[in-house]
Amino acid sequence: MSETDFVVKTIAEFDSQPEEYRTAVKKIIQSHAVNELYGAQVFDEPAIQLAPNAYAKWLTCRVAMEEYGHHVRFKELGKEIGIAESAMSPEEKKPLSIFEFDLNNWAEFVVIKMFADLAEILQVEDLWNCTFHPLRNLARMTMPEERFHVDFGHEFAAELVKTEEGKAALQKAVDEYFPKLPAFFGRPKSKNNEMFRKWGIKSRRNEDMAADYMKRARETADKFGLTLPDVSLPQAA
Ligand SMILES: [Fe+2]
Ligand SMILES: [Fe+2]
Repeated sequence: MSETDFVVKTIAEFDSQPEEYRTAVKKIIQSHAVNELYGAQVFDEPAIQLAPNAYAKWLTCRVAMEEYGHHVRFKELGKEIGIAESAMSPEEKKPLSIFEFDLNNWAEFVVIKMFADLAEILQVEDLWNCTFHPLRNLARMTMPEERFHVDFGHEFAAELVKTEEGKAALQKAVDEYFPKLPAFFGRPKSKNNEMFRKWGIKSRRNEDMAADYMKRARETADKFGLTLPDVSLPQAA
């Protein structure tokens, strides 16, 4: 929208918006609901078993609890705006490819939190001024928890790099997992992204977010003396 004062404050107001607006908002909420759940199922909950000690298990439980919580909150909002509950499950809608990774050890989970949750922070930041206020508010509520997940990754990475073995495990996990992440931002010139920006739901282009992400991910890697593998950024379709 070119009018900067366009906002949709309530569900009732939402219901009277043009179909394209409703479709765009629904797409984002459905995607978050599905992927928060699937991530909790395949990464966060199984990681509790991989955590090396009681302290790490405690914090991993908290991360898993929060990721399931994100799913629950997005699903509640999704139901309020008319998305079928079944459409917000990984059985019905295919989760993102960033979850196609066999989690086998603690270092891998630490890398996932450091880098995949950083990507999630960028996505949540992009909803910060979203024209649909219930979604904007949900993003703002979610943000401190996503920050905690990234900090969690940093805290345990700092532990791991203290030993040669730990650092090697971390680097191996980065080499294997990191190449999956740029795809998270979608392709340049994406029609969906154009629609989200047209309606002020999201604010940045996919390619700008991916470039910003790479910059921030490099800062993280540098902090721990890790090397990011060469990755190809998503290309226009
Ligand atoms: Fe989350
Ligand atoms: Fe997270």
